[in-house]
Amino acid sequence: MSFGLGHGRPLDPAPGWVGVSEEELPPLPDDILSDPRSGWIDPRNWFPDPRRPFELEIGSGKGTFLLQQAVLQPQTNFLGIEWAREFYTYAADRVRRRRTAGRLLNVRMLHTDASEFLHWRCPDTICRVVHLYFSDPWPKNRHHKKRVIQHRLLADVWRVLIPGGELRVVTDHADLWAWDMAHFEQWVGNRSRGVSEGQTLPHAREGPDAFIDPELLAGARSLVPAMPEAVRVRRAAMPAAPFDLLTFDRPESAGAGELVGTNFERKFREEGRAFHACTLRKRV
Ligand SMILES: C[S@@+](CC[C@H](N)C(=O)[O-])C[C@H]1O[C@@H](n2cnc3c(N)ncnc32)[C@H](O)[C@@H]1O
Repeated sequence: MSFGLGHGRPLDPAPGWVGVSEEELPPLPDDILSDPRSGWIDPRNWFPDPRRPFELEIGSGKGTFLLQQAVLQPQTNFLGIEWAREFYTYAADRVRRRRTAGRLLNVRMLHTDASEFLHWRCPDTICRVVHLYFSDPWPKNRHHKKRVIQHRLLADVWRVLIPGGELRVVTDHADLWAWDMAHFEQWVGNRSRGVSEGQTLPHAREGPDAFIDPELLAGARSLVPAMPEAVRVRRAAMPAAPFDLLTFDRPESAGAGELVGTNFERKFREEGRAFHACTLRKRV
């Protein structure tokens, strides 16, 4: 299916310069299961200055967040990961066209499944922020396994983040939010700071209850699969509460009244939808 994003104009993801296609990645080694590090590649090396702080976005869509934020943070390298080929190509083409006078050399786009990339390819402690904005809700129960937030992803995000690094999440979807919180509560302590924007719940509550009506959270718990054994083992080797649950700080690029200012946020805002947002910070 084509979304017609190019409006008839050929899109150029600028391979080797902006876009990184899945085919460019080396094959996973045969002994990957016994030696997980053998599959690692360091995406920081895809940038002119790999020593700069590194942030990645899961599901960049048309790439609007990256385009807006990367010009305001030129000393940070941003990798957008998008698994839909047309959106990856469109976003990479936008970056290519705006790369004038040295701007946006700090943005690259990768065409792959971000969950698999984090799990198999990313070395430990390389990333300062993982951005996840308006993730696909997959509302049917049988499709919940396709949602980005899963226990395995949270174990991988924790591993890949630097101490103090953050997973930042925004969604419009109430059921997905409840799903996210029902996962997060197994990874965070009771400490939390206030409530997320758009929430009208009492500020006095602590932990996930400060971010979601406890009854909705209780309802979502029954839908969340048990932590897989391999993740349980990894989780047991982490601090008791690997993350703190915090309110979401708007990036500098967000416009007036916006949380992040992505394409989906703008579309949903026009429809008058409510938003939910939070930050998970890896404990130091
Ligand atoms: C609803 S769109 C939101 C796009 C953008 N973040 C925004 O707010 O406008 C979700 C995007 O995530 C992408 N996506 C979903 N799961 C993904 C995954 N596991 N890896 C990479 N991209 C993914 C989808 O293809 C889609 O472009």
